[in-house]
This record gives sequence, structure tokens and C-alpha cells, in this order.
Amino acid sequence: MARKEFTAKNGTQVVLREPVSTDAKSMMKYINSVIRERRSGIVVDRPVTLKQEEAWLKARLEEIRKRSVVMLVAEVDGRIVGNCHASRRPWKENHRAAIGVALVKSMRGIGIGRALMKETMDLSKKRMRGLESFDLSVLDYNEAAQVLYRSLGFVRVGCIPDAMKEDGEYSDEMLMVLPGKHERRARKK
Ligand SMILES: CC(C)(COP(=O)(O)OP(=O)(O)OC[C@H]1O[C@@H](n2cnc3c(N)ncnc32)[C@H](O)[C@@H]1OP(=O)(O)O)[C@@H](O)C(=O)NCCC(=O)NCCS
Repeated sequence: MARKEFTAKNGTQVVLREPVSTDAKSMMKYINSVIRERRSGIVVDRPVTLKQEEAWLKARLEEIRKRSVVMLVAEVDGRIVGNCHASRRPWKENHRAAIGVALVKSMRGIGIGRALMKETMDLSKKRMRGLESFDLSVLDYNEAAQVLYRSLGFVRVGCIPDAMKEDGEYSDEMLMVLPGKHERRARKK
């Protein structure tokens, strides 16, 4: 089971590790704190219950076992403060994985998001044989996420206008790819 400790930019001790079934409650608290933010940057629009989180985690743990998902949580003082997961696409797209990351507000801007993504991508490449590239989507207003993704090498390859509607306000969804073998094609755009 992968596990790594590091010191964040402000001195906070952070553990990056794979999740276990007993994490459901702590994960629910973390994700609900993000969901409750206005313009959270994520698609879920209502808090999840413990039962839903337990079911979600159980399904992800099974996918981790089958090597179609890699997930790392960030833990500070025994509390889960964020997670990142890469989900391998099936069938003829199984050379690609979709990746997502989020952190509680109080732990942003100190390097945890970058560390979580790097470790998750490194572990995915080790675990998922034949994986070539990562992709993700990000909303136009989410400057912090876009800065992080660009600095990791992701390039914008498309945009879905008005993809998200929050409180009557529309946002565009940008599609980004960390080029693998199709690097030349992605860079052309
Ligand atoms: C997006 C998110 C995961 C970034 O994680 P983070 O831990 O705050 O980011 P880091 O501290 O690792 O910073 C990564 C880079 O982004 C930059 N950055 C961070 N916050 C920023 C901000 N508010 N504005 C502009 N740039 C920012 C940093 O300068 C850093 O670059 P550097 O390492 O060269 O200094 C975090 O902001 C978050 O959880 N947001 C809410 C959920 C979300 O939007 N998830 C992504 C959905 S697509």
C-alpha cells in the first residue's frame, strides 16, 4: 500500500496514502466541506450522506483492487483533507485515465494539490500497464486548478461552453490533456 510523508510549504506534516474502508466518515466530511463552497469547482451539487460515501468508497476500493483506479488521500493530524484519483477508461480508451483532485479550503496553496497529483500519476503509471495519458476537465473560473494543471504539463484541447450552471450562472468547461503518445496532435491545437 503506497504511503508517503512530506512537509507542506507552511510546515504542515502531510501523509499521502491509499484509502481504506474505515476512511468513509473522514472522507465524507472533507468532500462535503468542498461541496458546500460556492463555486466549488466540482460538479456535485449536494452534500453526500455517510451511507452514500461508504458505498462510493467501497466501489472505488474494488476498482483499486482491479487496478482500474488509483487513489491517494492527503491526511493531516489523522484527518482527511483532500484526495486525488485517476480512473482508467475502459475498452478502446484504456490507454487513458481521467484524473481529479480537491482539497479542503484551509489546506490549499501550500503544495498538497501538486504533490497529490504527482504521486497519483506516478503510481498510476506503475499500476496500470499500457497507460499513456491523463485527461481532466476544469471550469473557466477555476484559476488555481488551471495554474496547477498547466505547470504539470496539461494542455487545453477543447472547451464545452456553458457546461455548468450554478445558481443560474454558466461556466465553460475546459478539457485538458497531459499528452502521452499523441503529444504531437494535442500540441497542434
Ligand atoms: C485546485 C486545487 C486542488 C489546487 O491544490 P493546491 O494544493 O491549492 O495547489 P498547490 O498549493 O499545490 O499549488 C499548485 C500551483 O498552483 C498555484 N496556485 C495555487 N493556488 C492558486 C490560486 N488561488 N491562484 C493562482 N494560482 C494558484 C500555485 O502557485 C502553485 O504553483 P507553484 O507550485 O509553482 O507555486 C485546490 O485549489 C482545490 O482543492 N480547489 C477546490 C476543488 C477544485 O477546484 N478541484 C479541481 C477541480 S478541476
